[in-house]
Amino acid sequence: MKVINVGLLGLGTVGTGVVKIIEDHQDQLMHQVGCPVSVKKVLVKDIHKDRDVNLPKEALTTEPYDVIHDPEIDVIIEVIGGIEQTRVYLLDALKEKKHVVTANKDLMALYGSELISTATENSCDLYYEASVAGGIPILRTLVEGLSSDRITKMMGIVNGTTNFILTKMNKEKAAYDEVLKEAQDLGFAESDPTADVEGLDAARKMAILARLGFSMNVDLDDVSVKGISSISDEDIAFSTRLGYTMKLIGIAHRHGNKAEVSVQPTLLPDHHPLASVNDEFNAVYVYGEAVGETMFYGPGAGSLPTATAVVSDLVAVMKNMRLGVNGKSAVAPQFEKKMKDPGEIYAQQFLRIHVRDQVGSFSKITSVFSERGVSFEKILQLPIKDHDDLAEIVIVTHQASEEDFSVILGQLNDLEVVVQVKSTYRVEGNGYS
Ligand code: NAP
Ligand code: HSE
Repeated sequence: MKVINVGLLGLGTVGTGVVKIIEDHQDQLMHQVGCPVSVKKVLVKDIHKDRDVNLPKEALTTEPYDVIHDPEIDVIIEVIGGIEQTRVYLLDALKEKKHVVTANKDLMALYGSELISTATENSCDLYYEASVAGGIPILRTLVEGLSSDRITKMMGIVNGTTNFILTKMNKEKAAYDEVLKEAQDLGFAESDPTADVEGLDAARKMAILARLGFSMNVDLDDVSVKGISSISDEDIAFSTRLGYTMKLIGIAHRHGNKAEVSVQPTLLPDHHPLASVNDEFNAVYVYGEAVGETMFYGPGAGSLPTATAVVSDLVAVMKNMRLGVNGKSAVAPQFEKKMKDPGEIYAQQFLRIHVRDQVGSFSKITSVFSERGVSFEKILQLPIKDHDDLAEIVIVTHQASEEDFSVILGQLNDLEVVVQVKSTYRVEGNGYS
């Protein structure tokens, strides 16, 4: 009986989980694909490190092409991370007719189109389910489960680190720096957590989701990004007081043939399904014209959850091998990419403004909004402790275009009565879709 040989690039958090699942679930895998699976060679950086897996020492190598060029290896699983060098390894593997499974969102967001076309040209499979939302099978859901529908909106909590930090800030009033350290210690955060907290990790995942969900070649550069590092305790306190939960949300929205994709701290009504996704968990809310609202929830990171997605991709490759249909599943984008202009992107906005507490301040501020045709859903004016001459105004607008909102911000900053616009956040999900 033929054995399917796997070459593993990387034996860290995810790689270790992959080896364990292949070993522990061997009977189940064999039942599904009709042959045994073996991890033949593994690329690591440090061959002397203690490993928590059951592999012969000779299986480890520090030479990538020992794995990529091995003629007995059928499938390369890439879990080393990195971009430029890893891109070369995977292109070379595909040209050697090896199928590829990867968990690498950084690589797929930047070079996904090139890798997918190289895979197709070489009749190879390229699967990357683990690259978005770890253990949640969201990519397969978009391309298979919802393939008959037209998806118009996706909202995702797709970064566990920032969700963990915001949950602790919301619920336990914990300090940002302390919670970030806790997320690093628990292993969700990237080794350099800048990509997590500044929203880039989520932006990469949203680019991948938008590409598949909207069937257009959305690039990372098309995703506007704002992270969570400037969120203050006051922002959280005021949003809570107004009935909102602060989350880092990736939003991908399509109207007709035009799309918008962004990642930003967003206020969701407390009753919105995404508002109750806590700690390091991920969730993706998908709206399809026919199906309506759906939501997918689960662990977005971690050794075994992520490895589950990787090994399920391996099963898909092996099933294709049995049927002789490798390299045939990728579908080219149906639509030419068109991104919306700021005048076409509408959202509600939350603003917190410090103003001079004097006659006429309030009306000067409200007239800036009314001149642009933007009305208020909620408004609060409060004294500021220890500053008798100042007042805090908190506003939630009705829908406004990004273009109008940016003009309003410019005009507010020019008003003599405005001391500072302290913060602004998008508000989403009133009435959901
Ligand atoms: P990790 O724990 O840092 O492991 C990386 C592994 O790759 C290690 O075994 C390391 O070798 C090896 N390696 C790295 N650079 C190498 C090089 N230049 N040459 C040879 N070996 C090299 O990383 P991870 O958390 O498993 O993540 C792997 C990938 O999965 C990344 O793309 C990540 O974004 C993605 N991902 C991770 C998670 C998660 O929960 N961790 C979730 C979803 C996606 P040594 O062991 O010798 O150091
Ligand atoms: N650093 C990532 C997160 C890991 O926090 O979600 C999973 O991609």
